[in-house]
Amino acid sequence: MSAVLDWSHNVYYQRLLLRHLPRPCRRVLDVGCGAGGFAARLAQRVERVDAVDRCARMIEDARRHTPGNVTCVLADVLLDPLPGTDYDAIVSITALHHMPLADALEVLAAALRPGGVLAAVVLPRLDLRREWPVEIVAMVGHRLLGVMFLANRLLRGTHAFAKEHHTRTGMPVVLDPPLTTRQAARVAAAVLPGVRVRRLLFWRYLLIWEKPIRPHLGSWRTDVAADPVRHRRLDS
Ligand SMILES: C[S@@+](CC[C@H](N)C(=O)[O-])C[C@H]1O[C@@H](n2cnc3c(N)ncnc32)[C@H](O)[C@@H]1O
Repeated sequence: MSAVLDWSHNVYYQRLLLRHLPRPCRRVLDVGCGAGGFAARLAQRVERVDAVDRCARMIEDARRHTPGNVTCVLADVLLDPLPGTDYDAIVSITALHHMPLADALEVLAAALRPGGVLAAVVLPRLDLRREWPVEIVAMVGHRLLGVMFLANRLLRGTHAFAKEHHTRTGMPVVLDPPLTTRQAARVAAAVLPGVRVRRLLFWRYLLIWEKPIRPHLGSWRTDVAADPVRHRRLDS
């Protein structure tokens, strides 16, 4: 019974990220795009979407499921050059906890245009001691919405928030994320001053950062911004 009441928190939070797209917004990068569901949705809103994932099977799926204005690229965002620069927005759904957060934020911040927005939904580590009230509300809410979405599927034939199990889709998952929301907020603030990180109800946190129009000393690392790939090479 619990499987039919399950629903996808990742799909549920897509709309939240869409609300954070800046204006104008012509070119967007989706980091860890998986099978391309969110990239396809973004493509209805913006001219061009680059969708990147390091898993070949996911990129094959994404190529099948996305329209012509989405470029699906097999790449590791920490090791390979990104397909573009000066993005209006960079978005990501449950992928940043697969990588060292500070490194990922530096690379992604560098690829935004001034005034561009980084908006990510990320899986936090469980922090029961501090967040038990949220966990209880989340469990109850998950079941209530599960009943509502199931009724919608049965009565209206919609696929709203339908969940496919990762063992079937082959999607890489990390089930023990390294950072709690509080730890992630601290790491992010050290890299991107002004970043906002907040816990979302359904086992995710939201990270939002707007790249300053005029970078100044003490804001974020303009040396990395200039050439993140070269910078990493010099470091190694
Ligand atoms: C849990 S899946 C989420 C997929 C998709 N965003 C969604 O909402 O369905 C995380 C994805 O991030 C990808 N990923 C993890 N680390 C990555 C990296 N360093 N570079 C590119 N993709 C990465 C994985 O291959 C995986 O497909």
